[in-house]
Amino acid sequence: MLFPEGVAIDGKTGEVTPSTSRYSKKLSDLRGFFHDPKALESKIAQEGDATVYEVIDYRHEESDLAFGTTIMWPGKVGEEYYLTRGHFHVRRECGEAYYTQSGAGLLLLESREGETRTVDMKPGVCTFIPPDWAHRSINTGPEKLIFTWFCATDAGHEYGEIQKRGMRKLVIDQDGKSVLADNPNYAG
Ligand SMILES: [Fe+2]
Repeated sequence: MLFPEGVAIDGKTGEVTPSTSRYSKKLSDLRGFFHDPKALESKIAQEGDATVYEVIDYRHEESDLAFGTTIMWPGKVGEEYYLTRGHFHVRRECGEAYYTQSGAGLLLLESREGETRTVDMKPGVCTFIPPDWAHRSINTGPEKLIFTWFCATDAGHEYGEIQKRGMRKLVIDQDGKSVLADNPNYAG
């Protein structure tokens, strides 16, 4: 039986207390997701296998609702900002909400029909992610990007499609500004 409890979410560090699980992704885990593999390998060789993001969950399989935080480090691979893998939900009817608490970023979304949208991620903004839109978070700022997400516990993550074909758009640094560009490697 589950009991109610208060869960502390630190908007500056992203820590969730208590949490039920966590994982992190390093540069080497994101091979195939950045558009410039040479830039990725030379970054790992020169600077080491840095953490790109960490996800902390508060999740009980017996409940329909789960939440947690994602903490994204600032950085770039070549001119492309640090990103999350990006996914659709296995259960296509499941949307999600992302509430940004610190930092600055961009949520890149792509519908099944191939439409692209972006939403600025900044403190105080809660992004509505409609069902069946792929979503990828991108840290375009100089600080950590921290957001809290709320999702159906059994929504499921489908990473394979984005990994295989990429997203249609990239977010790159052009003279200090974040710009949406066509993905030259898009294989859809
Ligand atoms: Fe999601």
